[in-house]
Amino acid sequence: MLLPDLREDFPLLTRTVRNGKPLVYLDSGATAQKPRVVLDAEREFYEQHNAAVQRGAHLLAEEATELFEGARGDVASLVGAQSQEIVWAENATAAVNLVASGIGNASAGIGGDEAARFKIGPGDEICVTETEHHANLVPWQALATRTGATLRWIPVDDQGRMILDDLDSLVNERTRVLAFTHVSNVTGLISPVGALVARAKAVGALTVLDGCQSVPHLPVDVKALDIDFMAMSAHKMLGPTGIGALYGRKELLDALPPSIFGGGAVKVVTMEETSWQEAPMRFEAGSQPVAQAVGMGAAARYLAGVGMDRVEAHEREIAAVMRAGVAEIPGVRLLGPVGSADARDVIGVASIAVDGVHPHDVGQVLDDAGIAVRVGHHCAQPLHRKFGVTGSTRASAHVYTTREDAEAFVAAVATVPAFFGVN
Ligand code: ALA
Repeated sequence: MLLPDLREDFPLLTRTVRNGKPLVYLDSGATAQKPRVVLDAEREFYEQHNAAVQRGAHLLAEEATELFEGARGDVASLVGAQSQEIVWAENATAAVNLVASGIGNASAGIGGDEAARFKIGPGDEICVTETEHHANLVPWQALATRTGATLRWIPVDDQGRMILDDLDSLVNERTRVLAFTHVSNVTGLISPVGALVARAKAVGALTVLDGCQSVPHLPVDVKALDIDFMAMSAHKMLGPTGIGALYGRKELLDALPPSIFGGGAVKVVTMEETSWQEAPMRFEAGSQPVAQAVGMGAAARYLAGVGMDRVEAHEREIAAVMRAGVAEIPGVRLLGPVGSADARDVIGVASIAVDGVHPHDVGQVLDDAGIAVRVGHHCAQPLHRKFGVTGSTRASAHVYTTREDAEAFVAAVATVPAFFGVN
């Protein structure tokens, strides 16, 4: 069921583009627009409460700390976590790196006995999937290189679905980490989280979920999913840029070594050594992005207020309109599952390749019609390689996307083959 039109909440969506055309914003997978409550929360923080957190002895510092920690609680409750299980990070990429680098640091002997459980080395394995965007692939490649561990991956079929036939051999007793996306940023496919987590648990591997494209778009409960870590991005979930978060089970976060070292994260420092605070503070060295955290908390409250079940239903319907529409157009290939039955696990996204037309040229035609989409490989080169293309044109939705937006996309795509004389 579609949500009511929420565009009034998003000031940017009222502007026009390209000779006064109404903006059709279909690039929310790259970054989402911000509701007024997020903009107001940041402004009010700076106008009324701005102070350094957790270190001042004055009223403003107290208020800023309360807002900062309150925001942590709001993000935690959106994903079913405890407040102390949420660590602020610069973005989702930084959140994944925080886990990978922490494991690398543990493997180098940092963190002492409590971190020994994370040590990996030659003979150990890290498993990812072929559908990952680079943020959840490159850090694991680097960790494998750094430690001598072997990187393996779960392949996908020609529709982008993970092939689980060899799961038991790909995730085996040598596997120490299984890192995978919750929702593909190219196909919109929702991953088989239950099967992957069950296999990881059976062999004692840590699970790291990339929640960039799920937390903004569907209900996520980290306890129900039973994952160990999850990366989140604020700017894709209607929040500010410059901040994201890592969820981690508290007992794991309390043992994982930090990867940014400095003040604020420490208990006792001597000239020889340092002991760290418990999580989340051990990961939050230096001045923190306080206004951004407050904005992310406001975004989490806004999404919870709309209701994540309703957000998911809305985005499934928008995806269905876009996907069914473009699948009918001769010369246009939809990446991922095609057909209403096959598309049941897909949310919010339609990525297309137009025969004989470069994705950037497709984007140009859409832009002339006032439609903003993403073009290129969307930081997912291996998946595009699997599909046999170097890039695609992606439309991606959010709570404010309307059926008219989806239909405008389909209508504009239909003009592309003739525009370039390729039909
Ligand atoms: N993951 C980002 C996107 O899909 C980069 O646009």
